[in-house]
Amino acid sequence: MKVAVIGTGYVGLSTGVCLSEVGHEVTCIDIDEKKIEKLNVGISPIYEPGIEDMLNTNISAGRLKFTTSHKDGLKDKEIIIIAVGTPQGDDGSANLKYLEQAAIDISKNLKHNAIVVIKSTVPVGTNDTIKKILRKHRNKGISIKIVSNPEFLRQGTAIMDTMHADRIIIGSENKKAAEKVMKMYKPLNVPILLTSIRSAEMIKYASNAFLASKISFINEISNLCEAVGADISDVALGMGKDNRIGESFLQAGIGYGGSCFPKDVKALLHTAKQYEVDFSLLKETIAINENQKEILVTKALKRFGDLSEKKIAILGLAFKPETDDMREAPSIKIIELLTGLGAEVRAYDPVAMENAKRIIGDGVLYADSVQEAIQDTDALLIVTEWNEFRQLDLSQITKMMKQPIIFDGRNCLEEEKIRDCKHVEYYPIGRPKIIIK
Ligand SMILES: NC(=O)c1ccc[n+]([C@@H]2O[C@H](COP(=O)([O-])OP(=O)(O)OC[C@H]3O[C@@H](n4cnc5c(N)ncnc54)[C@H](O)[C@@H]3O)[C@@H](O)[C@H]2O)c1
Repeated sequence: MKVAVIGTGYVGLSTGVCLSEVGHEVTCIDIDEKKIEKLNVGISPIYEPGIEDMLNTNISAGRLKFTTSHKDGLKDKEIIIIAVGTPQGDDGSANLKYLEQAAIDISKNLKHNAIVVIKSTVPVGTNDTIKKILRKHRNKGISIKIVSNPEFLRQGTAIMDTMHADRIIIGSENKKAAEKVMKMYKPLNVPILLTSIRSAEMIKYASNAFLASKISFINEISNLCEAVGADISDVALGMGKDNRIGESFLQAGIGYGGSCFPKDVKALLHTAKQYEVDFSLLKETIAINENQKEILVTKALKRFGDLSEKKIAILGLAFKPETDDMREAPSIKIIELLTGLGAEVRAYDPVAMENAKRIIGDGVLYADSVQEAIQDTDALLIVTEWNEFRQLDLSQITKMMKQPIIFDGRNCLEEEKIRDCKHVEYYPIGRPKIIIK
């Protein structure tokens, strides 16, 4: 089938690449000229494992093209997928300006009948608004059908998640349009659930809000574990073995971040307010998460009393491993708090350094390696659980530090390796500290 994808971010690019991989003819359109320039020579503008190989294979096979021109990109396309950003607005609602502009771009440039699929995460009712925009600006005699198709991929495993999704949601009020979108996804061999448009829109927000609440819940339990002397790792394992609970999303840490959970939870809360529904569980989910982002700094303050002029290494800046995405990363708040308290911060991340520099700015020393970050520091804070950090030689690391004090915000260091160190203070989350003098 001939498919256009509008927006080549984490979602649009992964979708475009995977649809071309299963044989469709795909053109991805983006307004960002630099992104399209890179993509046209087979370079991915985002860090996503596996994406660049697939990108090059499908460009070479002639199935995947990139352009900044909506007119060229939409030519002959039966299905047009919108995957532009819907960032958080000032009042917590989803900002729909990119989506609305994309709808105008489509309707003005479309010269034939087509189906528009909204993959961006949008509040309930948005598909109706977009339908009106598409109809208002469309060329005479053109029919545009709309389908809601929210995306559930996770950054870091976006290709795997798209090729082997748990489910595909197709929300439509038009049987023929729904069938055509189902046909496009058929080669993926993934279970498909057909719903109304409004239910499809809600499934996405309800799923993210549920997962975010699960994280805030386990973080609260971890705080209680510390207070009562229990171990969150055992507690989470014991809870997760219950099929009704499940093992995923029970890793205590320093809170969720990224481009989805924070904004989607707030957008759902905004929708609840609009409809005068008091969703107090969501308010608490957000509040707990904000507190949890501060927990490493609170622990460091408790240990040192005063952080002014303390040299502190931060390992991990991206909001999670295997991505270069810094949106809503807990590292931002942690660094802001530390520098505000007068600490000297040295930061290192395997792939997110460039994005981090843009967001965090000056006032932090950006190290080129773990070793450069930790040399002569008073404390080490592990903020993102990259495999590189799990594999560190801790005996060597602790020797390089001025004071071998480690705060592990992701419980990613092995207890055995800590116990092998000659001299260390180790503060995990929700587990007893280890002090070897
Ligand atoms: N990132 C995720 O993990 C994820 C997962 C599921 C759902 N989502 C949702 O998917 C949507 C996209 O997220 P993302 O992270 O891929 O966004 P992103 O910010 O990485 O990319 C959006 C892209 O759209 C482009 N764009 C904006 N307006 C355009 C226009 N009129 N025409 C063409 N291109 C345009 C931008 O230049 C940018 O490259 C959001 O609604 C998000 O909530 C994201």
